[in-house]
Amino acid sequence: MLRYDIGYLDGFITNGEFDAVKEEVAAASALLRAGTGKGNDYLGWRDLPAVFDKEEYERIKDAGRRIREQSGILLVIGIGGSYLGARAVLELLRGEMHNELGGLRVYFTGNSLSPSDIEELLRICDTADVSINVISKSGTTTEPAVAFRIFRNYLIKRYGEEESRKRIYATTDKEKGTLRKLSDEQGYETFVIPDDVGGRFSVLTPVGLLPLAAAGIDTDALIAGAEAMRQAVNEDDTLANPCNRYAAVRNILLRTGKSVEILSCFEPRFRMMGEWYKQLFGESEGKDHKGIYPSTCVFTSDLHSMGQYCQDGSRILFETLVRFTGSDSELKVNAEEVDFDGLNYLAGKKIHDINQVASDATMSAHTEGGVPCSVIECEKIDEFNTGELIYFFERACAVSGYVLDVNPFNQNGVEAYKRNMFALLDKPGYEEDRERLLNKR
Ligand code: PA5
Repeated sequence: MLRYDIGYLDGFITNGEFDAVKEEVAAASALLRAGTGKGNDYLGWRDLPAVFDKEEYERIKDAGRRIREQSGILLVIGIGGSYLGARAVLELLRGEMHNELGGLRVYFTGNSLSPSDIEELLRICDTADVSINVISKSGTTTEPAVAFRIFRNYLIKRYGEEESRKRIYATTDKEKGTLRKLSDEQGYETFVIPDDVGGRFSVLTPVGLLPLAAAGIDTDALIAGAEAMRQAVNEDDTLANPCNRYAAVRNILLRTGKSVEILSCFEPRFRMMGEWYKQLFGESEGKDHKGIYPSTCVFTSDLHSMGQYCQDGSRILFETLVRFTGSDSELKVNAEEVDFDGLNYLAGKKIHDINQVASDATMSAHTEGGVPCSVIECEKIDEFNTGELIYFFERACAVSGYVLDVNPFNQNGVEAYKRNMFALLDKPGYEEDRERLLNKR
């Protein structure tokens, strides 16, 4: 089971500070359990690993198998909460180079407006048969809508209207929105994003599960891991609950001026989990002019770039390391008869063990440099442990947001740029905004 270790925080947080915050955290945790806090119409993620729609889940697994049979490439079109979770889990479990390793290739698009990215992907599509999973709760988000228009057109030209319909799978609202309407008209197979689950909490809904099932990920184990974590923390409002302890640490440190969290990991394949974490905490807490700025480092590579700042820059940081203690890899440093590079002192040592030493050394160095550090320890990288980690972060984020006294489940701030973009692109209905923006120039 995942552990949250605060041993390195000695000297940074006193028992008195924990005592002072524990009632607030208990109240926030109880509020989440009771479902009476801010944004309580978006708590569907909380019990999802236990109460998900089993019938739809079987359809997801069937569709995943069908996609693998019909295609060598799956395009997953979506942005933000309709994108990051699936990519994060896929890359954590299969690595950043998963598309080079055989099996279904999965490409994520619709998460930018870069013409060169789209053009490259169109060229890649010519190398194998293609299916599409288009994901949008609202159905109106510009980036995925533009990409879907382009790639749908590509499918129709390549396979014809009828065949292309069998290659498009839509994940969207159960009744509202353009994508729902189009899917119903065209007869695409559809999957539902539950009303009470917001984008950044949706990885264990069809949003994440369909691309992951298609990629051959053991989604049963992923959900089982999340459920194990849910059961472990569900009833406990104390600081013995690791989610609550993490929420407490974050808020105590924020109150002492540590306004930037670095989530670090010594596994490059964790990079996109970092992006997922940034959305989860950034969109949940960054409001009412409050909140910790979530950032990430991938070590050891970033020790050679951001390491200097972590060690010795402005002391606004705290660090949370995600450490995978075990590994199935047996890869070792080989011995050389002539020690030409002076590395024979490492001969016979596993790379995983050297990596663990690097993380210990870094934690000690950053602690000595004045950075409060704590560690989320997972047994190893697999589906079950990933499920635990996802649920841990979701729950900790909700409790932390309630301690901060914000609504962790809305994201009104994201709308501002969308409105301006619609106005500047002449979308009907945005004429007044357009006038206002043009007058400012
Ligand atoms: O967390 C969120 O709500 C956002 O990141 C959305 O997921 C993102 O804007 C995409 O929205 P939609 O699924 O409606 O296209």
